[in-house]
Amino acid sequence: MDVVPATPGDPDPPACVPPPVPYREEQIIENTTVLVAGATGDLGQRIVSELLLGDSLVRVLTRPGSGTAHCLYGGNDRVEIHEVAYTDRAGLARALSGVDTVVSAVSGARPVIIDAQRALLAAAVEAGVARFIPSDYSADYRRISPGSNRNFELRRELAAELDAAPIRVTSVLNGAFADMLTGQAPMILFDRHRVLFWSSPDQILDFTTKDDVARTVALVGVDEDAPRVVEVAGDRVTARGIARTMSELTGTPFSLQWAGTTGMLAAASSIGRRLSRSHDEAFPAWQGMQYFVSMFSGEAQLHHVNNLRYGRHDWTSVRNVLEAHLNSERIAQRIKGRPTA
Ligand SMILES: NC(=O)c1ccc[n+]([C@@H]2O[C@H](COP(=O)([O-])OP(=O)(O)OC[C@H]3O[C@@H](n4cnc5c(N)ncnc54)[C@H](OP(=O)(O)O)[C@@H]3O)[C@@H](O)[C@H]2O)c1
Repeated sequence: MDVVPATPGDPDPPACVPPPVPYREEQIIENTTVLVAGATGDLGQRIVSELLLGDSLVRVLTRPGSGTAHCLYGGNDRVEIHEVAYTDRAGLARALSGVDTVVSAVSGARPVIIDAQRALLAAAVEAGVARFIPSDYSADYRRISPGSNRNFELRRELAAELDAAPIRVTSVLNGAFADMLTGQAPMILFDRHRVLFWSSPDQILDFTTKDDVARTVALVGVDEDAPRVVEVAGDRVTARGIARTMSELTGTPFSLQWAGTTGMLAAASSIGRRLSRSHDEAFPAWQGMQYFVSMFSGEAQLHHVNNLRYGRHDWTSVRNVLEAHLNSERIAQRIKGRPTA
């Protein structure tokens, strides 16, 4: 494999585009009742926390037997818990009665992204809910090539139904979760001092932390005038920029490593998908490859980022995420090396 040096001093990608629609305080409606589906999940919990920073009343929709909702929210008098199966139409109607906004943060493959969210949408329309935020929270899935990314195509399939429904819908698009760079997204080889790229080390990649996404979602949830899509990106970097950042943070040169073309990665992912036994797993390894194909091909790049829609905010950069990770690793190493009493 070719090793391309990470050239120091490369210009960073351009900063976010200025907001086309300025934010106005009066857009925010107070005492909104927001129902969060998937509120027991990683992102869902963060969204609920952000909503509770404002005046919203929160309803949590959780599946019977799912278990953690009472433990997480049982003592909070601004949170109502509704245990309902997505197949229980009457139960969904009861849970949604009087709700202003439905925020979906459910996670899964077709049975969740299409089937459960379709039931949620139908119930929301029936209950006269004003706004619906689907569980998108991804890169821009709208223009990707057919067959190139299963999870994105499920979102695109649902989007067609959302667009036809008599309800205001806002999708939040944020690129990849920046938090994944230190774990699930194996692009940085920390031990080997390499940063992988496919096709081009200069392709712009959008990253936003889960907390920054949750803040955006909570604000969209109480924004009467939110458009069909709100795009945010906590950071916009390239593989070359990440290698440079890692070199600066560690004091050890990180090189770029060509891992193939996006076409080669797409082919590897197809083989992985064919060999895979589980079809309903949300993030099998082959799906992770498809995510990189969409990002490194540029097809899923965000083009209308509006980070200022909800005012100034200290977005967490990729550098912040990597620095925090390296510091925690150093502390863990020190604790490991400490003699036991
Ligand atoms: N952009 C990115 O890089 C990125 C990365 C990771 C995730 N995401 C997206 O962010 C969203 C939230 O992900 P997450 O990681 O927070 O999810 P998560 O923690 O895995 O789960 C979210 C919730 O989904 C609900 N759920 C699980 N299986 C379900 C089913 N069969 N039917 C209905 N509900 C079900 C559960 O709620 P109850 O048990 O309470 O019902 C669960 O707590 C998803 O859309 C995910 O694809 C994006």
